[in-house]
Amino acid sequence: MQKKLIVGNWKMNGSLAANQALVRGVLDGLKGLQVNAAVCAPNVYLPQMQAMLQDQRALDLGAQDVSLHEQGAYTGEISADMLREFGIRYVIVGHSERRQYHGEQDPHVALKVQRALHAGITPIVCVGETLAERREGRTEEVVKRQLAAVIHVNGHCISEVVLAYEPVWAIGTGLTATPEEAQQVHSVLRKQLKAATEQAQRIAIVYGGSMNASNALTLLKQPDIDGGLIGGAALKVSDFLAIMAAASQCATAS
Ligand code: 13P
Repeated sequence: MQKKLIVGNWKMNGSLAANQALVRGVLDGLKGLQVNAAVCAPNVYLPQMQAMLQDQRALDLGAQDVSLHEQGAYTGEISADMLREFGIRYVIVGHSERRQYHGEQDPHVALKVQRALHAGITPIVCVGETLAERREGRTEEVVKRQLAAVIHVNGHCISEVVLAYEPVWAIGTGLTATPEEAQQVHSVLRKQLKAATEQAQRIAIVYGGSMNASNALTLLKQPDIDGGLIGGAALKVSDFLAIMAAASQCATAS
């Protein structure tokens, strides 16, 4: 069974009580759905999530960032090995909010991917253009440059990542790339992956940017859209479950 991957990125949201209610609701509603699912929680909540998610396999745990350093005098940073100790399966790397507000550039992202892979964590590598770049007709150039930096450092190990196309102008804005626009970029990324690895077809390329209960199905039906990276809609049990139900409808026999 070829399942779609739906990942919730909670960003800087949540509380001990809210997380518990959200995850309980998601675990209940997930039963019977054919979907690979995960939530990426803020670091301080990873122990809470690890405890809640043990003894089940329906919902994996992820983090939202990782240090590009291995260990040492880097105040405030969290290493990949530390994340690993909390049962982390995924880590988001190079999210546009990290690039925009924390000065992360392509070489940093590439090294973070390397650290995650080395620790046995699957990086979810985010690429995406700004509105200005799209208007200038530079979308493909930008996402290809961002992916090329990661391939350059990680070589054939690129087959171990999840790639997320998140147009910056669609994040948290209510604007979504049309299924055709998203598919076009995903197919460009797939082609680039094919040039780097024979395993390109099995790399999940997920879409993120205002994916919600009403637009998920048409996006997920696109041939190169293998799942979703969900922000706002991942914070409400019913919305997140509706997206996962749409993903389940798109699961195919492999
Ligand atoms: P929204 O779904 O809130 O637009 O956020 C998308 C995102 O940034 C996921 O990483």
